[in-house]
Amino acid sequence: MKPLIAANWKMHKTVAEAEAFCRQIRQMEGQFSGVEVLICPPYTALAAVQKALQGSTIKLGAQNMFWAERGAFTGEIAPSMLRECGVEYVILGHSERRHIFGEDDSLIRKKLAAALSHGLKPILCVGETEEEREEAATERVLEQQLCAALEGLDQGKPGEIVIAYEPVWAIGTGKAAVPADAENAAAWIRQVAARYLPEEDMKALRIQYGGSVTVDNIAEFMALPTIQGALVGGASLEAATFGRLALAAGEAVNR
Ligand code: PGA
Repeated sequence: MKPLIAANWKMHKTVAEAEAFCRQIRQMEGQFSGVEVLICPPYTALAAVQKALQGSTIKLGAQNMFWAERGAFTGEIAPSMLRECGVEYVILGHSERRHIFGEDDSLIRKKLAAALSHGLKPILCVGETEEEREEAATERVLEQQLCAALEGLDQGKPGEIVIAYEPVWAIGTGKAAVPADAENAAAWIRQVAARYLPEEDMKALRIQYGGSVTVDNIAEFMALPTIQGALVGGASLEAATFGRLALAAGEAVNR
């Protein structure tokens, strides 16, 4: 299972900008051995990025979705619509969805189940806020978020789930977690997930670290035994930078 290096563009890039990024990153993709590289553009650029990545090993993901198949849900996007755009992965429960848009654990759980039943690979984001960290509540918060998402999940078939450990205080702040703390959190996540996921899913489970990942610190995270990838925001917006980051991740893995 290769580590997953994912670009989360958030609300950045027009179609033209997304296409330009893809042209540039494709010139480097031959060097991305050892890691799986994923790009998650905004919805409006999904189709263009799919086209621009045809014949490439770089994968396509979405940043969010709704759980229903269709219906009166103004402004929402269904799993099958993502599949039609060639989407393979979908980020769910990102802290910006939880904290800015008020998504709660029960909504995220419905989305997770819907993603799996539509053959999409979910990247489930969990993480504590600064306040929770100061109260030494990190493990409790992670456990609560994971239990709410995974308990009684009727997947039908084993799915490939990715869990991103993203401490909220580290996102977009330039203050990445200390690698040892990320490792402890990932180990805890693995322990809690094992209560709910079948063995095959646990074997395939990758845990990413996210939060102020850069070209300079990616190798430290990739050297951790329980971390298999990164979810990258700010450092994913320029193709040259993200390319170097993916390259550094691959080198750290092959070391
Ligand atoms: P950041 O964002 O790399 O800009 O901190 C990470 C994320 O929100 O996924």
